[in-house]
Amino acid sequence: MTPQDPGALYSHHLDVLRQRADQALARGGFDHLVIPSGTRHYQVFDDRDYPFAVNPNFKAWVPLTRVTDSWIVYTPGKRPQLVFLQPFDYWHVVPEAPSGWWVEHFDIHVIRTPEEALPLLPANPARCAILGEAQSALGGHVPNNPEAVIHYLDWHRAFKTPYEIALMRQAQQLAVRGHRAAEAAFRAGADEFSIHMAYCSAVGQDANDLPYGNIIALNEHGAVLHYTELGRSAPSPLRSFLIDAGASAHGYASDITRTYAAAGHDEFQAMIDAVDAAQQRMCAAVRAGFDYRQLHVDAHLALMGILKDFGVIKVSPEAALATGVSAAFFPHGIGHLIGLQVHDVAGFAASDAGGRIERPAGHPYLRLTRVLEPGMVVTIEPGVYFVDMLLDEVKKAGNAASVDWDRVEFFRPYGGIRIEDDVLCTGGAADNLTRPAFAAAN
Ligand code: GLY
Ligand code: MN
Ligand code: MN
Repeated sequence: MTPQDPGALYSHHLDVLRQRADQALARGGFDHLVIPSGTRHYQVFDDRDYPFAVNPNFKAWVPLTRVTDSWIVYTPGKRPQLVFLQPFDYWHVVPEAPSGWWVEHFDIHVIRTPEEALPLLPANPARCAILGEAQSALGGHVPNNPEAVIHYLDWHRAFKTPYEIALMRQAQQLAVRGHRAAEAAFRAGADEFSIHMAYCSAVGQDANDLPYGNIIALNEHGAVLHYTELGRSAPSPLRSFLIDAGASAHGYASDITRTYAAAGHDEFQAMIDAVDAAQQRMCAAVRAGFDYRQLHVDAHLALMGILKDFGVIKVSPEAALATGVSAAFFPHGIGHLIGLQVHDVAGFAASDAGGRIERPAGHPYLRLTRVLEPGMVVTIEPGVYFVDMLLDEVKKAGNAASVDWDRVEFFRPYGGIRIEDDVLCTGGAADNLTRPAFAAAN
């Protein structure tokens, strides 16, 4: 096994989870940690289920993302239990019996119906911290999600174990395969839907597995931050392509964005290059002790410097930030924690006992306000966009003179630019998880 093999790292990961669970249960005054995998959700008045999303707290313990009506039970000092549903079912594929690097660490109880879990759960639900959604309730075992337990576990989930980092590196490699296929499809003139299909096919994942819906945006569509329409015909001419798409590896996410100019669109390509260079400097700023809120504000100034260089704004970056003009061009946060969820939990947490670190005034979409510490994985995703609705607000606020509207008209048909990598904070230099995956795929 190589050092990066998740199988070689799992036993340490489990030790960390057990220590965290011991502490969390002590904080909350409970004897057992009980985690349902979750159950299927059905469409209203219908028997069709939505793509299943397993409880993130469940997949933290076991690399299982497809199993429903199953349970983790952990009691401090004892081996963890997995109650695993393998139903008699000829309608669906029955989950395979558990196998792989992790099974030796669990006592596994295979059940054939969801109700058979009940006698395998701790006898007194009042002594259990049960983490899950309401519809996972079974008998008296109703998820109670005690705050003291959740605060503790969520806070510590920001610090990834080597096992988790190894899986997140795998998630980069998978996504990059898709990004390469998508760029090739764009260069060949494909429409958004076909680019999406090329991506899914190269990654081998679709809505059931991808950590979020692909954003595949040609031309002006790049200005819609969460554009998920997938047009069926390619616009003509094709000018630009923004793709924000990730992948999952045993339940861990990657979240990657790239922007491309069509051949001959040199000035837009130059702006992409400038944002890309600035983004790499921001990634290098990911280091222990640095306040992520400062990183966000610094990103505003760097991006406005680029817009000034390209003649789009006529005022200093500082003035654009102070007047809100910069928020019209960069209207989202610089990034977020990532891991078991693409927007991972506890981005605003002040401590493992609760409390909240507020966003800086005027930055309502920032998702992470903590000081960076080793083990955190964050995204760094600066962007500049030409969004009519927001540019109208600039005019209404009396700041029209800050902007060169002819330059806005020039760049509007390209939509926008976003570059996004996933970066590990270490005790030393930032470890960009994404860039090496692109370099290896060249
Ligand atoms: N793909 C969603 C995000 O970048 O946060
Ligand atoms: Mn992101
Ligand atoms: Mn993204």
